Amino acid sequence: MPSKELFEMARKAAENAVCNESGFPVGAALLCEDGRIFTGANVESPSIIQVFCAERVALVKALSEGARKFAAIAVHTPKSPGVPPCGVCRQMLWEFAPDITVIIEKDGELSETPLADLLPDAFSAD
Ligand code: THU
Repeated sequence: MPSKELFEMARKAAENAVCNESGFPVGAALLCEDGRIFTGANVESPSIIQVFCAERVALVKALSEGARKFAAIAVHTPKSPGVPPCGVCRQMLWEFAPDITVIIEKDGELSETPLADLLPDAFSAD
C-alpha cells in the first residue's frame, strides 16, 4: 500500500480523537504485513488520569485481533504537522514491530523513517 494512502487513513483517524483535555488530536494507521490496516486516535479520559496515544491504540487493536507482523505506521498530528511518536509509543512499537517504518508529514511532504533511527540504543529485556 502506498504511504500516501496510509497517511490519509491516519488523517481520517485523527477526526475521532477524544482529546478535550489537550486539544491535540492524533491519528495513526498501522499497516500489517498481511495487508490489514488498524487505525487509532488518541483518547483522553476526562480526569486525564489516563491518556492513550493514537499509535498505541492502533497497535493494541491490531494485537488483539491477532496481528503480529507490521510493516509501517503513519501518524498525523493536525495541530502541528510532523510531530513524531512519543517515547512511550516508540518503545512499545519497538517491542512488537522493531522493523517498522514511521511515516509522518513534514512541511507538506511525507517522510519515512525506520523506527530504529527514532529509538537508538533501545531497551530490550531479551
Ligand atoms: N499523543 C499521541 O497520541 N501520540 C504521541 O505519540 C504523543 C502524544 C497524544 C496524547 C495526548 O492525548 C495528546 O497527544 C497530547 O499529548
